[in-house]
Amino acid sequence: MSGITISVPGKLMLMGEHAVVYGRPCMVTAVDQRMKVSIELLDQPIFQLTAPDLNISHYQKSIGEVGKGKILKETKFAEIAVKNFSDKYKVTSGLAIKTQSDFSPKFGFGSSSAVTVGVIKALAELFKVKLTQKELFDLSYKTVLDVQGKGSGFDVAAAIYGGTLYFQTGGSIIEPLIIDGFNLVVGFSGIKADTVTMMSLVRTKMENYKTGVEKIFDNIGKLVNEGKMAILDKEWERLGTLMDYNQNYLEDLGVSTSKLNQMIAGAKAAGAYGAKLSGAGGGDCIIALVSAKSRYKVSQAIKKAGGQIIDTKVNAEGARREV
Ligand code: MEV
Repeated sequence: MSGITISVPGKLMLMGEHAVVYGRPCMVTAVDQRMKVSIELLDQPIFQLTAPDLNISHYQKSIGEVGKGKILKETKFAEIAVKNFSDKYKVTSGLAIKTQSDFSPKFGFGSSSAVTVGVIKALAELFKVKLTQKELFDLSYKTVLDVQGKGSGFDVAAAIYGGTLYFQTGGSIIEPLIIDGFNLVVGFSGIKADTVTMMSLVRTKMENYKTGVEKIFDNIGKLVNEGKMAILDKEWERLGTLMDYNQNYLEDLGVSTSKLNQMIAGAKAAGAYGAKLSGAGGGDCIIALVSAKSRYKVSQAIKKAGGQIIDTKVNAEGARREV
């Protein structure tokens, strides 16, 4: 038996969520809390999955049944990733997969896309299939769409490329931004958001008020383009202001919550350059852009508003082989 371990970073949306599903750009950064995916070849034609973070231990089925029949919610991404890779590259060996994450699946750090990328990259290494980053992106993104039906793919790109990216829907633009990093405080609201539900909510709003919502998306897109210049020029105050404006539009879209708003208000009052929800909304995390000096005070304020501080660094390395 031989095995391989791949580690994949989590992600945080900096600006542009929801609008990116409708063709506008976004910015995303990879974080240094990682998902590890280990795969071993088995002599038997079986598929095994152990994912302690999802309470899955020794889930097993015949390899021919992977991605078919009854599939558990928790095993979907890994199974469909294996199925898509196997269909494309005609491999049929038995596999034992283990995932282990530094971060809780509740944070909205992109555990599903991280597992997907980790599985496909590990299989490519195991079976000596040379994949470019874009080919890895395309197969991983297809997998995410097969499972959840919608999504821009920004999380898949962050998992693969790492760093901080300017991204456009479906990977039509994946542009790494060459920066040293920046100071971000991350506060978890304690509530796990369901991304697909939040996307459906925005879709309904879009269908009911198309002109208005399209305008919001256009404006968010403009903020992202300005944010990209601000981040490249290290203009933190300006970036913070743009994040604040982005948050206002997210509130207009109806995806913020009073808990998120309180954490954001606390961060701002304590001196953050800017603060907003990150991701789908409805829960998950807020991000606050800070100076090194204001970090502590902002963290305390977010805690006071009921948030849990997640200690993580941004601009982290993309998917890599560990063993
Ligand atoms: C979710 O983290 C961000 C959304 O824009 C969905 C997506 O881009 O796939 C709401």
